[in-house]
Amino acid sequence: MPKQTTNLDNQLYNYLLSASLREPEMLLQLRQETANHPRGGMQISPEQGQFMALLVELIGAKKTLEVGVFTGYSSLCIALALPADGKIIALDVSEEYTAIARRYWHKAGVADKIDLRLAPALETLDELLASGQAQTFDFAFIDADKENYDGYYERCLQLVRPGGLIAIDNVLWSGQVADSQIQDESTQAIRAINNKLHHDERVALSLVPIADGLTLALKRG
Ligand SMILES: C[S@@+](CC[C@H](N)C(=O)[O-])C[C@H]1O[C@@H](n2cnc3c(N)ncnc32)[C@H](O)[C@@H]1O
Repeated sequence: MPKQTTNLDNQLYNYLLSASLREPEMLLQLRQETANHPRGGMQISPEQGQFMALLVELIGAKKTLEVGVFTGYSSLCIALALPADGKIIALDVSEEYTAIARRYWHKAGVADKIDLRLAPALETLDELLASGQAQTFDFAFIDADKENYDGYYERCLQLVRPGGLIAIDNVLWSGQVADSQIQDESTQAIRAINNKLHHDERVALSLVPIADGLTLALKRG
């Protein structure tokens, strides 16, 4: 058996956080508030947020896209990593969830970097394409309803520039993708996008086993 990715039990996971997490106070407060939310499990993990912030800094991203905001943790991670003139166009359908996000974006002083669009994300992505914004984004994060992942990916692939990065969340789906007994729509949609990306020559690919699995797809020129 080749050397596999280390399996993190609670002790090792807590060590990872204690040894590396640099979480600004506002992100910590947002994470604590979201932990009491009935859908709090939808939030990304703090080490994933830090990883995506590093990626955004690494590629020098300025113009970014987020599909699926919820209470705003991932968008706040990205906004804090962007330069002063950086922007996120953030897509969601929920006024209720994103009211919490807006509160924290203001408290963290990054609200002016985030343009929230409340509408079904496929529609907003189509509007961005129709308004001539293809190939203008540096980074896109896909983390909304799984059934539409393929549609989000295809549109984001048009919207990011060559050399731009698309990050797709929940690609390991708590292990359900590997369990053939599980055949619900979300699991099938994630399997389908994973299979498609495996052989998609338009992108360079890595499925990173952080949190619930994060696929990185770098658009080739
Ligand atoms: C997993 S949560 C996003 C978590 C977020 N990235 C974070 O870090 O906390 C998914 C979000 O997608 C939104 N959503 C679901 N269907 C959508 C759709 N068709 N268009 C836009 N947003 C949608 C939900 O309202 C929810 O806020």
